[in-house]
Amino acid sequence: MASTGTVTEQTTIPSWGGRYEIIGLLGRGGTAEVFEATDRLLGRRIAVKVLREGTTPDPQAVAQFRREARAAASLNHPKIVTVHDVGMDGERPFIVMELVHGEPLSELLDREVRLTFGRAAAIAQAIAEGLACAHQAGIVHRDLKPKNVMLTANGLVKVLDFGIAQALDRTPVDEPLGTAEYLSPEQATGLPLDGRSDVYSLGVVLYEMLAGRPPFTGERALAVMHQHVYDDPPPLAEFRPDVPAPLRSIVDRCLRKQPGARFRDARALALELRRFQSVGPEATDPLPPTRVTDSLEADRPEDPRGTDHSPRARMIGAWAVAGLALVMAGAGLLIPLMTRHPPVAQARPEILRPAMALQVRGACGGFFKARASLAWRASTSRIADGYLVYRSRTPNGPYQTIGIVPGRAAIRYVDERLDVNATYYYRVRATSGSRLSAFSGPARAETPFFCL
Ligand SMILES: Nc1ncnc2c1ncn2[C@@H]1O[C@H](COP(=O)(O)OP(=O)(O)OP(=O)(O)O)[C@@H](O)[C@H]1O
Ligand SMILES: [Mg+2]
Repeated sequence: MASTGTVTEQTTIPSWGGRYEIIGLLGRGGTAEVFEATDRLLGRRIAVKVLREGTTPDPQAVAQFRREARAAASLNHPKIVTVHDVGMDGERPFIVMELVHGEPLSELLDREVRLTFGRAAAIAQAIAEGLACAHQAGIVHRDLKPKNVMLTANGLVKVLDFGIAQALDRTPVDEPLGTAEYLSPEQATGLPLDGRSDVYSLGVVLYEMLAGRPPFTGERALAVMHQHVYDDPPPLAEFRPDVPAPLRSIVDRCLRKQPGARFRDARALALELRRFQSVGPEATDPLPPTRVTDSLEADRPEDPRGTDHSPRARMIGAWAVAGLALVMAGAGLLIPLMTRHPPVAQARPEILRPAMALQVRGACGGFFKARASLAWRASTSRIADGYLVYRSRTPNGPYQTIGIVPGRAAIRYVDERLDVNATYYYRVRATSGSRLSAFSGPARAETPFFCL
C-alpha cells in the first residue's frame, strides 16, 4: 500500500478531540487505516492509525490495545517510528505517531525484487537495532514484515507497529492478521514467544531481500505455517548462488526452528550484520553502498554488545521449544490434510472474517478418556478456506495448534483423548490462502469427572 507521505484521498473523519485535524488517508491495512493529520497543539504533521470503521472491539481488547500502544510510546529509537499519543475515536482506539515520508520495504521489493547484499544487510541491521531497543523494553514486535518497515526519503529505516499486533489479535474485528510468510514457528503453533520470534521474522525478511521471495510460500496459510514449523527453508543459493557465505549463515541462523538455536537476541544479530558489512571484499557487493547503508552509521546505538537475557525470556523460550516438539510429534497427521485441498483464489482487499460463536462441550470418549466437541459459525467471508483450531489449559494460553479443518462450511471439530476431570480452552481462526483471521473465543470445555 502506498505511503509516500502524499495524501491519497480526502476523508470526512472529524478531528479527534479537536486536536488532530485530518488531512487525508495515507494507507489502509487489514485492520486499520492510517491518516495524515495536523497536531494543532504542537503545530506539526503526524500520522494517526485507527481501527477500521465498522469495527467494534470489545472493551478488554481496547484496553489491551491502549496498553500496548503506551508501551510502544515509551520506545525512543531512530529506527522505530515514534508513538506520540493514544486516544479514542468513539469506541475505536487510535494511535498518533510520527509521520514517515517514504515507502514501505514491501514496495521497494515489489519494484526491485532483490536487493544488493550491502543494502539488504544494512536494512536488516537497522531493523535489528530497532528490535533490540524494543526487546530491551520487554516489547516483542510480533508482526515484523516488509509492510511494517518504512524506508524514508532520506535513507533511514523505521520499524512500524511495535507490539500492537497482539492487541489487535485479541479484537474480534474480523480482520486478517497479516500473512503467514513471516510468522515464527512458535507463532504458527500458538506458543508464547519472546524477542527471538522477531529474530526469525527478520530472517525471513532478509531472506526475501536477497532471494526475491520469502523462504516459505503457499496459497494456504496452513501450508505456509506448516512449513515454518517442519520444513527446512530452501537454500538461499537456489535463488541467488552468489550470496556470500557469512550472510547466508546469518540468514540460516535466524531461521532455525528452535528459538535457542537462533541469535540470542536482536542485538547480537545487528552486531553480526554490522560485522558482515565491515569485512573483506568477498562479503561485499560489486555495487556501491546505498544511502541506507551510509545513514546507518550516524545513529547506531552506542553499545551493540548489550544483551537482553532475562530469566523470563529464557523460560518463555523453553516453553516454545517444548511446545514445538509436541506439535512436531503430530506432523504425520497434518501433512495429508495440508495437501488434500486445492488452493482457493483470494482477493487481497476482502476482509477475512473469523469463525464466530465458538461453543465447546466436554464428553466421555473412552476408557478414562474424554473428548471435546467444538462447533462454530462459519466465517462470512467467501474467501475463507478453512480453520485452525487451538487449545490451551488456561484461558490466556499458551495456545497450541491442534487441528486443521479444511473448507469454509466445515464448522465442527472433535478433540479426542483428553484427560477426564479437566478444563480446556479453545480458539479458532479462519484461513484464506496465506492469510489468517482474528481469533474467536476462547471457549471453555469441562471434561467429565469419570469415564468408562
Ligand atoms: N507513521 C506512518 N507514516 C506514514 N505512513 C504510514 C505510517 N504508519 C503506517 N503507514 C502506512 O499506512 C498503511 C497502512 O498501514 P497498516 O499498518 O494499517 O497496514 P499494513 O501494515 O500495510 O498491512 P497489515 O494490515 O496487513 O499489517 C501502510 O501502507 C503504511 O505504510
Ligand atoms: Mg502496519
